[in-house]
Amino acid sequence: MATAAELAELPERPEAPRQTTEFRISRPQIVGPDVPESPFPILLAGPVQQGFGRGGKELGCPTANLPDESITPISSVAKTGVYYGYAQVLPPKDGKTELCQDDIRVHPMVMSLGWNPFYKNKVLTAEIHILHEFKSDFYGYNMNAVVLGYIRPELDYTSREALIDDIEIDKRVALNSLNRPEYEKYRTNSHFDLTCTI
Ligand SMILES: Cc1cc2nc3c(=O)[nH]c(=O)nc-3n(C[C@H](O)[C@H](O)[C@H](O)COP(=O)(O)O)c2cc1C
Repeated sequence: MATAAELAELPERPEAPRQTTEFRISRPQIVGPDVPESPFPILLAGPVQQGFGRGGKELGCPTANLPDESITPISSVAKTGVYYGYAQVLPPKDGKTELCQDDIRVHPMVMSLGWNPFYKNKVLTAEIHILHEFKSDFYGYNMNAVVLGYIRPELDYTSREALIDDIEIDKRVALNSLNRPEYEKYRTNSHFDLTCTI
Protein backbone atom coordinates (compact mmCIF):
# COMPACT_ATOMS: atom_id res chain seq x y z
CA MET A 1 0.00 0.00 0.00
CA ALA A 2 1.52 3.34 -1.05
CA THR A 3 1.82 6.07 1.58
CA ALA A 4 0.12 9.45 1.01
CA ALA A 5 3.54 10.99 0.28
CA GLU A 6 4.34 8.32 -2.33
CA LEU A 7 0.94 8.75 -3.96
CA ALA A 8 1.45 12.52 -4.13
CA GLU A 9 4.62 11.94 -6.20
CA LEU A 10 2.94 9.71 -8.78
CA PRO A 11 2.01 11.39 -12.08
CA GLU A 12 -1.74 11.72 -12.22
CA ARG A 13 -3.72 9.00 -13.97
CA PRO A 14 -6.05 10.81 -16.38
CA GLU A 15 -9.73 9.95 -16.56
CA ALA A 16 -10.41 7.63 -19.52
CA PRO A 17 -13.67 7.83 -21.48
CA ARG A 18 -16.12 4.98 -20.87
CA GLN A 19 -16.54 2.48 -23.71
CA THR A 20 -20.01 2.54 -25.30
CA THR A 21 -21.92 0.25 -27.69
CA GLU A 22 -22.02 3.13 -30.22
CA PHE A 23 -18.22 3.22 -30.16
CA ARG A 24 -18.01 -0.55 -30.70
CA ILE A 25 -20.36 -0.67 -33.69
CA SER A 26 -18.77 2.34 -35.36
CA ARG A 27 -15.23 0.96 -35.21
CA PRO A 28 -13.40 0.87 -38.59
CA GLN A 29 -11.88 -2.43 -39.73
CA ILE A 30 -8.71 -0.78 -41.01
CA VAL A 31 -6.97 2.32 -39.62
CA GLY A 32 -4.25 4.79 -40.62
CA PRO A 33 -3.06 6.02 -44.02
CA ASP A 34 -1.72 3.60 -46.67
CA VAL A 35 1.83 4.69 -45.80
CA PRO A 36 2.92 5.08 -42.12
CA GLU A 37 3.15 8.78 -41.22
CA SER A 38 5.07 10.66 -38.51
CA PRO A 39 5.58 9.89 -35.62
CA PHE A 40 5.64 6.33 -37.01
CA PRO A 41 7.65 4.15 -37.25
CA ILE A 42 8.58 4.22 -33.55
CA LEU A 43 11.27 1.73 -32.54
CA LEU A 44 11.16 0.09 -29.11
CA ALA A 45 13.45 -2.46 -27.50
CA GLY A 46 14.00 -3.91 -24.05
CA PRO A 47 13.82 -6.94 -21.79
CA VAL A 48 10.33 -8.39 -21.30
CA GLN A 49 8.93 -7.77 -17.83
CA GLN A 50 6.19 -9.57 -16.00
CA GLY A 51 2.96 -7.54 -15.61
CA PHE A 52 0.22 -8.48 -13.16
CA GLY A 53 -0.44 -11.64 -15.18
CA ARG A 54 -4.09 -10.73 -15.79
CA GLY A 55 -3.66 -10.41 -19.57
CA GLY A 56 -3.25 -14.12 -20.16
CA LYS A 57 -5.43 -15.46 -17.35
CA GLU A 58 -8.39 -13.08 -17.38
CA LEU A 59 -8.38 -11.65 -20.88
CA GLY A 60 -7.02 -14.54 -23.00
CA CYS A 61 -4.45 -12.06 -24.25
CA PRO A 62 -0.98 -12.49 -22.68
CA THR A 63 1.12 -9.34 -22.86
CA ALA A 64 4.85 -8.69 -22.76
CA ASN A 65 5.57 -5.50 -20.82
CA LEU A 66 8.50 -3.20 -21.57
CA PRO A 67 10.40 -1.45 -18.76
CA ASP A 68 9.90 2.31 -18.16
CA GLU A 69 13.14 3.35 -19.86
CA SER A 70 12.20 1.41 -23.02
CA ILE A 71 8.89 3.19 -23.53
CA THR A 72 10.21 6.79 -23.67
CA PRO A 73 10.50 6.73 -27.53
CA ILE A 74 6.71 6.37 -27.70
CA SER A 75 5.46 7.97 -24.46
CA SER A 76 7.34 11.17 -25.36
CA VAL A 77 5.75 11.54 -28.79
CA ALA A 78 2.42 9.72 -28.73
CA LYS A 79 -0.74 9.71 -26.62
CA THR A 80 -1.97 6.74 -24.61
CA GLY A 81 -4.04 4.20 -26.52
CA VAL A 82 -3.87 1.03 -28.59
CA TYR A 83 -1.28 0.72 -31.37
CA TYR A 84 -0.25 -1.86 -33.98
CA GLY A 85 2.99 -2.96 -35.55
CA TYR A 86 5.48 -5.81 -35.50
CA ALA A 87 7.48 -7.41 -32.68
CA GLN A 88 10.19 -10.02 -32.28
CA VAL A 89 11.33 -11.92 -29.19
CA LEU A 90 15.04 -12.72 -29.25
CA PRO A 91 16.47 -15.94 -27.83
CA PRO A 92 18.90 -15.63 -24.87
CA LYS A 93 22.58 -15.43 -25.77
CA ASP A 94 23.42 -18.69 -23.96
CA GLY A 95 21.11 -20.52 -26.38
CA LYS A 96 19.13 -22.21 -23.58
CA THR A 97 15.45 -21.69 -24.38
CA GLU A 98 12.15 -23.46 -24.78
CA LEU A 99 11.24 -21.19 -27.68
CA CYS A 100 11.29 -22.59 -31.20
CA GLN A 101 12.41 -21.04 -34.49
CA ASP A 102 8.86 -19.96 -35.35
CA ASP A 103 8.59 -18.10 -32.00
CA ILE A 104 11.57 -15.84 -32.76
CA ARG A 105 10.26 -14.65 -36.13
CA VAL A 106 8.83 -11.15 -36.57
CA HIS A 107 5.09 -11.26 -35.82
CA PRO A 108 2.23 -8.74 -35.95
CA MET A 109 1.41 -7.19 -32.57
CA VAL A 110 -1.05 -4.93 -30.77
CA MET A 111 0.17 -2.68 -28.00
CA SER A 112 -1.63 -0.96 -25.16
CA LEU A 113 0.15 2.18 -23.95
CA GLY A 114 -1.60 3.49 -20.89
CA TRP A 115 -2.89 3.27 -17.39
CA ASN A 116 -5.29 0.33 -17.83
CA PRO A 117 -8.26 2.30 -16.45
CA PHE A 118 -10.32 -0.91 -16.15
CA TYR A 119 -7.75 -2.17 -13.60
CA LYS A 120 -6.94 1.30 -12.19
CA ASN A 121 -3.15 0.94 -12.56
CA LYS A 122 -1.02 3.68 -11.02
CA VAL A 123 1.83 3.61 -13.55
CA LEU A 124 1.97 4.03 -17.30
CA THR A 125 2.80 0.75 -19.07
CA ALA A 126 3.46 -0.46 -22.60
CA GLU A 127 2.06 -3.96 -23.02
CA ILE A 128 2.58 -5.85 -26.25
CA HIS A 129 0.41 -8.77 -27.30
CA ILE A 130 2.16 -10.68 -30.07
CA LEU A 131 -0.21 -12.35 -32.54
CA HIS A 132 1.43 -15.73 -32.33
CA GLU A 133 0.86 -18.75 -30.10
CA PHE A 134 3.89 -19.17 -27.82
CA LYS A 135 4.15 -22.48 -25.98
CA SER A 136 6.33 -21.07 -23.19
CA ASP A 137 6.97 -17.77 -21.37
CA PHE A 138 9.82 -15.47 -22.34
CA TYR A 139 10.23 -13.13 -19.37
CA GLY A 140 13.66 -11.51 -19.34
CA TYR A 141 14.21 -12.09 -23.06
CA ASN A 142 14.86 -9.06 -25.24
CA MET A 143 12.04 -7.88 -27.45
CA ASN A 144 12.21 -5.48 -30.40
CA ALA A 145 9.12 -3.72 -31.70
CA VAL A 146 8.26 -1.33 -34.51
CA VAL A 147 5.07 0.63 -33.85
CA LEU A 148 3.39 1.67 -37.10
CA GLY A 149 -0.01 3.09 -36.26
CA TYR A 150 -2.69 4.10 -33.77
CA ILE A 151 -5.93 2.16 -33.40
CA ARG A 152 -8.02 3.78 -30.65
CA PRO A 153 -7.94 5.60 -27.31
CA GLU A 154 -7.62 3.75 -24.04
CA LEU A 155 -11.07 3.28 -22.53
CA ASP A 156 -12.66 2.42 -19.23
CA TYR A 157 -15.01 -0.58 -19.20
CA THR A 158 -17.97 -1.68 -17.13
CA SER A 159 -17.24 -5.37 -17.79
CA ARG A 160 -14.26 -7.57 -18.54
CA GLU A 161 -16.20 -9.13 -21.45
CA ALA A 162 -16.51 -5.74 -23.16
CA LEU A 163 -12.73 -5.20 -22.82
CA ILE A 164 -12.09 -8.71 -24.24
CA ASP A 165 -14.44 -7.98 -27.19
CA ASP A 166 -12.62 -4.73 -27.98
CA ILE A 167 -9.20 -6.43 -27.79
CA GLU A 168 -10.45 -9.04 -30.30
CA ILE A 169 -11.48 -6.22 -32.64
CA ASP A 170 -8.07 -4.55 -32.08
CA LYS A 171 -6.33 -7.75 -33.26
CA ARG A 172 -8.40 -7.91 -36.46
CA VAL A 173 -7.90 -4.19 -37.15
CA ALA A 174 -4.13 -4.61 -36.64
CA LEU A 175 -3.93 -7.52 -39.09
CA ASN A 176 -6.04 -5.68 -41.69
CA SER A 177 -4.00 -2.50 -41.30
CA LEU A 178 -0.65 -4.30 -41.54
CA ASN A 179 -1.82 -6.13 -44.65
CA ARG A 180 -0.71 -3.23 -46.90
CA PRO A 181 2.61 -3.17 -48.78
CA GLU A 182 4.03 -0.06 -47.04
CA TYR A 183 3.39 -1.65 -43.62
CA GLU A 184 4.34 -5.19 -44.54
CA LYS A 185 7.84 -4.11 -45.51
CA TYR A 186 8.63 -3.25 -41.85
CA ARG A 187 8.60 -6.98 -41.12
CA THR A 188 12.13 -7.04 -42.51
CA ASN A 189 13.27 -3.72 -40.96
CA SER A 190 16.88 -3.62 -39.73
CA HIS A 191 15.57 -3.05 -36.16
CA PHE A 192 14.86 -6.80 -36.17
CA ASP A 193 17.42 -9.59 -36.11
CA LEU A 194 16.50 -11.60 -39.20
CA THR A 195 19.45 -13.93 -38.98
CA CYS A 196 19.01 -15.32 -35.48
CA THR A 197 18.41 -19.02 -35.10
CA ILE A 198 17.77 -21.46 -32.27
C1 LIG B 1 -4.73 -4.63 -27.47
C2 LIG B 1 -4.97 -4.23 -26.04
C3 LIG B 1 -5.91 -3.24 -25.75
C4 LIG B 1 -6.15 -2.85 -24.44
N1 LIG B 1 -7.07 -1.86 -24.18
C5 LIG B 1 -7.33 -1.49 -22.90
C6 LIG B 1 -8.29 -0.45 -22.61
O1 LIG B 1 -8.87 0.18 -23.50
N2 LIG B 1 -8.55 -0.18 -21.30
C7 LIG B 1 -7.91 -0.84 -20.28
O2 LIG B 1 -8.19 -0.57 -19.12
N3 LIG B 1 -6.97 -1.78 -20.53
C8 LIG B 1 -6.68 -2.12 -21.82
N4 LIG B 1 -5.74 -3.09 -22.08
C9 LIG B 1 -4.86 -3.51 -21.00
C10 LIG B 1 -5.32 -4.68 -20.27
O3 LIG B 1 -6.15 -4.21 -19.24
C11 LIG B 1 -4.03 -5.29 -19.72
O4 LIG B 1 -3.33 -5.89 -20.78
C12 LIG B 1 -4.32 -6.22 -18.63
O5 LIG B 1 -4.59 -5.43 -17.50
C13 LIG B 1 -3.18 -7.18 -18.33
O6 LIG B 1 -2.17 -6.54 -17.67
P1 LIG B 1 -1.13 -7.39 -16.82
O7 LIG B 1 -0.45 -8.34 -17.76
O8 LIG B 1 -0.19 -6.33 -16.26
O9 LIG B 1 -1.87 -8.09 -15.77
C14 LIG B 1 -5.46 -3.49 -23.38
C15 LIG B 1 -4.51 -4.49 -23.67
C16 LIG B 1 -4.26 -4.87 -24.98
C17 LIG B 1 -3.27 -5.93 -25.27
